[in-house]
Amino acid sequence: MDADLLRADLAALYPQYGLRVAHQGTVLLAPTDEELLELADIVAEPGGIVAPGRVGELLGWPEDEGAAAARRFLEWAWRLREAPTPARWRAPMAVLDGGRVLGLATLAHELDDPAGTARTASWLARAEQGRGLGRRVRLMLLELAFGPLGMTRAVTAAAEGNEASRAVSAACGYRETHRATGSDGVLEVHAAVTVAAWRKKRLRDVDVEGVDALLAAIRS
Ligand SMILES: CC(C)(COP(=O)(O)OP(=O)(O)OC[C@H]1O[C@@H](n2cnc3c(N)ncnc32)[C@H](O)[C@@H]1OP(=O)(O)O)[C@@H](O)C(=O)NCCC(=O)NCCS
Repeated sequence: MDADLLRADLAALYPQYGLRVAHQGTVLLAPTDEELLELADIVAEPGGIVAPGRVGELLGWPEDEGAAAARRFLEWAWRLREAPTPARWRAPMAVLDGGRVLGLATLAHELDDPAGTARTASWLARAEQGRGLGRRVRLMLLELAFGPLGMTRAVTAAAEGNEASRAVSAACGYRETHRATGSDGVLEVHAAVTVAAWRKKRLRDVDVEGVDALLAAIRS
């Protein structure tokens, strides 16, 4: 089945499949299984996302590769496929450019998050990093969060040594809130951005569509 028809059928049951965020040829869409398999190939490839030995920077990712890494990624992604509620909703978005799947960006609100707070997380295939796409994708997620979804604050976390992720956060207006050591022993730097700080960094011409059904599901 055509990917967009499949997404439309899924959107009737899971409204996050109706979301579409676009900017200058880059599109964020909830991933189909075919796209998840393409992403799983990147995850499975040694050094596909971070240089060997730096997996700890991905916070909570084990040092696996090949089929084990692909299965771990797919099972994590499938667990996110649940009906959104005001208490918890997750919107994983494949990063697509010219028909290619380049990475994954997730906007979510978890059970213990204060009302109005969204979490952002993302990764790109290593070959796509360092040319401004990570910053653009984060600002596209924030356009969705602070625009039609009406969130008031977004939070993220990065390993202390993950300079690229921390630089993207700073470039998008996040400020450090606290540090904590995760169960894997990695020092995490937590940061947050408000609507006012994001407005100063906002991208022009981001097109956001298909939000109404998700908004109806997550409104308390
Ligand atoms: C983190 C990530 C999404 C950033 O995306 P990217 O496309 O590489 O970053 P960009 O090219 O958009 O760079 C954005 C900013 O970070 C800076 N930056 C990028 N890589 C950097 C590095 N290694 N060291 C220092 N600064 C860096 C850029 O100079 C740019 O700064 P500016 O906006 O002030 O000019 C990407 O590198 C990635 O997928 N990394 C692996 C996965 C990961 O670590 N995800 C986050 C887990 S918490």
